[in-house]
Amino acid sequence: MLKNYKIDNISLKNSLEWQNKILRWYQINKRQLPWRKEKYQNFYCVWLSEIMLQQTGVKTAIPYFYKFLRKWPTLNSFSKASLDEIMFNWQGLGYYQRAKNMFKAIDIIKQNYPIKSYEELMKIPGIGTYTAASISAILYDNTKAVVDGNIKRILSRVMRLNPANKTFEKKLNTVAQNLTPKKNNGSYCQALMDLGSLICRPKNPLCKKCPVNSQCHYYIYPEKRIKKMFKNNKKSKFGVAFYLSYKNH
Ligand code: ADE
Repeated sequence: MLKNYKIDNISLKNSLEWQNKILRWYQINKRQLPWRKEKYQNFYCVWLSEIMLQQTGVKTAIPYFYKFLRKWPTLNSFSKASLDEIMFNWQGLGYYQRAKNMFKAIDIIKQNYPIKSYEELMKIPGIGTYTAASISAILYDNTKAVVDGNIKRILSRVMRLNPANKTFEKKLNTVAQNLTPKKNNGSYCQALMDLGSLICRPKNPLCKKCPVNSQCHYYIYPEKRIKKMFKNNKKSKFGVAFYLSYKNH
């Protein structure tokens, strides 16, 4: 499969150039996000942030990340929390199954600590392929490709892969894996997340500022762009509010 991998704008030969450009761009343009601080580069903090970020945007997740760390600064303190307490503190973030899964996961994590491999991470409730790849890349520089919605959009633009095609997921995963560096995947995957959020945005991408535009099909051949790409996968949240009205008031 690897041998046949060749698309005119990026081949395996110049994937190194691609990785270097992305990593250099990240050094300068990296978003200063709390979970990226040195002091939070441990399993508990990265696990907590990656679960929160599964269905929630960065801005919303930040205050919750701090709130949880104030209440439970360590994995050990978190392991003593009750489900009710976790649910209570999760209020407003939505997708409560995530909080339930974190509660379920604690015992498994404690019994198997330290958990380093992608395969072991996949056994933890609430952790799927994406989160297993991102946690193991960020903490242990594992080389499994990290593919979230942002990264899918970037790579499908670069390689002109059409999400409507049956073979899309397979091709995309192959491309993603082939472009993943053998070192520094933690920085590389977060660089792509930032590139997707700051430059290769769903609407009005800032192609002129993109560090890899010279390797991008979308930029080089604007007339061949695939129009319909992806729906936003951060789902809308709905709430219910009650208004109490008393007689004569
Ligand atoms: N979304 C998921 N993980 C993220 C991370 N580590 N940084 C920014 N956005 C993310």
